[in-house]
Amino acid sequence: MAELITIDDPDDPRLHDYTSLTDVELRRRREPAEGLFIAEGEKVIRRARDAGYRMRSMLLSAKWVDVMRDVIEEVPAPVYAVTPALAEQVTGYHVHRGALASMQRKPLPAVDELLDAAPARDEGRRVAIFEDIVDHANLGAAFRSAAALGVDAVFLSPRCADPLYRRAVKVSMGAVLQVPWTRLESWPKDIERFRRQGFVTAALCLADKAITLPELAARRYGRLALMLGTEGDGLSVDALRAADEWVSIPMSAGVDSLNVAAASAVAFYATRL
Ligand SMILES: C[S@@+](CC[C@H](N)C(=O)[O-])C[C@H]1O[C@@H](n2cnc3c(N)ncnc32)[C@H](O)[C@@H]1O
Repeated sequence: MAELITIDDPDDPRLHDYTSLTDVELRRRREPAEGLFIAEGEKVIRRARDAGYRMRSMLLSAKWVDVMRDVIEEVPAPVYAVTPALAEQVTGYHVHRGALASMQRKPLPAVDELLDAAPARDEGRRVAIFEDIVDHANLGAAFRSAAALGVDAVFLSPRCADPLYRRAVKVSMGAVLQVPWTRLESWPKDIERFRRQGFVTAALCLADKAITLPELAARRYGRLALMLGTEGDGLSVDALRAADEWVSIPMSAGVDSLNVAAASAVAFYATRL
């Protein structure tokens, strides 16, 4: 059972994991370096626990103690009870969802381990590769689509944003904790590894020479890796060159492209098994 500790000093060092949550630059550096991430709200905290992440501590305003009682009774981590005003002072924002948890990151799985272990169905496998998605909300939304639409694993280019950053976790509704993911180290060279494992790599792009998404779907590839590019420029020339197929989602009304998270949802749905 966790120890319930009331704290009334915003400078209490036990609140260190929760300080300045609105300072994106600071948190982006601190969280991976200190091996933690922040789960926000009852559902996401439960999801993180169910996914096997170890809780370092929880920060609750008093009225959430009863809601989280079962978690408090189950985990050995300290639980800090604070007033909403103190939570705001420490974190820098009004914590609407009343509960925050600091969770310990897990080591990322190896690329081949994920390619092998992506749940095998008789029909095949679906994986996604995101190149340099920088916006945490886009990344979270793309992960949510991946979880909902049967994508077995997600691979991130080295410069892609952190899926465990608070906003990404929140927008994904905890999907970043469910879908297996890892980071590629050698990009775009690593695209070759997918091919070696029998995946067809399909680059979602706007090229004139691209086949359409319905055409790709009709090919019913058993192992398919869908590649999506960064918000501004799209997939890099090197990534496009390395892909087996170029695929576009037909656009209308003079709109040139979809937001990357929307494009991922359309592509995952069209090619689902
Ligand atoms: C906002 S778009 C980037 C647009 C960029 N100007 C380009 O030429 O690719 C971000 C990513 O979403 C995907 N995407 C968006 N609209 C698409 C479409 N109509 N067809 C295929 N992929 C699309 C691509 O993977 C793209 O790299």
